[in-house]
Amino acid sequence: MAQDFSGKVALVTGAGGGIGRATAQALAAGGAKVVVGDVSQKGGDETVALITAAGGTASFVRCDVSNPDDVQAIVDHAVSTYGALDIAVNNAGVDPEVAPVAEWKLEDFDRIHSINTRGVFLCMKAEIAAMEGRGGAIVNVGSFASVSGVANKPAYTASKHAVLGLTRAAALQYGRAGIRINAVCPGGVRTAILVDNVGTSAEAEAAVAAAHPIGRAGESQDIAEAILWLASPASGFVLGHGLVIDGGLSAQ
Ligand SMILES: NC(=O)c1ccc[n+]([C@@H]2O[C@H](COP(=O)([O-])OP(=O)(O)OC[C@H]3O[C@@H](n4cnc5c(N)ncnc54)[C@H](O)[C@@H]3O)[C@@H](O)[C@H]2O)c1
Repeated sequence: MAQDFSGKVALVTGAGGGIGRATAQALAAGGAKVVVGDVSQKGGDETVALITAAGGTASFVRCDVSNPDDVQAIVDHAVSTYGALDIAVNNAGVDPEVAPVAEWKLEDFDRIHSINTRGVFLCMKAEIAAMEGRGGAIVNVGSFASVSGVANKPAYTASKHAVLGLTRAAALQYGRAGIRINAVCPGGVRTAILVDNVGTSAEAEAAVAAAHPIGRAGESQDIAEAILWLASPASGFVLGHGLVIDGGLSAQ
């Protein structure tokens, strides 16, 4: 049964494509008013157009999650435009080229952390302030790399472990205040990030599918479904959890 989010206001970062777009569309289909955040104006505009064409309500705010002013502005937009912030999905993230640790450039390490780790921290800081006194649900997007080490991805692995750590610590602080904070930890999902990492050849697609015990890569909708559950009252007793959605990758 589709979740009912009517009357709710949701914010999704990195919603200009991939998992964030699918989540924004699903929340809007459930009746939420959705604020679409992304560094990509084009991607964000496309997501809003898809939502409004389907009869939903959404608006785009350009937001670099590593920038505190951008983050505060998008949270302020949600509150001033739609009256509140009930649901926040901190999804924006990057997973650039891979290299052995000894070959990593410090600026690449810092850039990944500024978006994947600092971005989630800044978003939670502003979102929780907007939710205090009335409650809400926050879902952070971690990764299979939140719970496992991924060879040649030291910065990404560390940043996604940090997302789960931030999720747990903040959940413990705000659970009694009615703000439920959880995370999803996806395996390989067919989005731009995966294409950037492995390419689009039939061999690459087959290798990704074979790596997952379920026999296929994930789709953005697989992850959006879990995010919606964590954002809804159906998961009302779930707090500080990292929900792994990885086709069995981490069961091996
Ligand atoms: N696709 C996968 O295999 C996979 C697996 C595990 C975790 N994830 C995580 O899922 C999340 C979404 O990734 P995706 O797979 O949908 O990739 P994607 O590249 O399709 O989407 C990421 C979006 O984030 C935006 N973005 C990048 N930097 C930003 C910033 N500084 N501020 C705001 N927006 C920014 C991009 O413009 C893009 O629209 C990421 O956190 C990623 O690490 C993805």
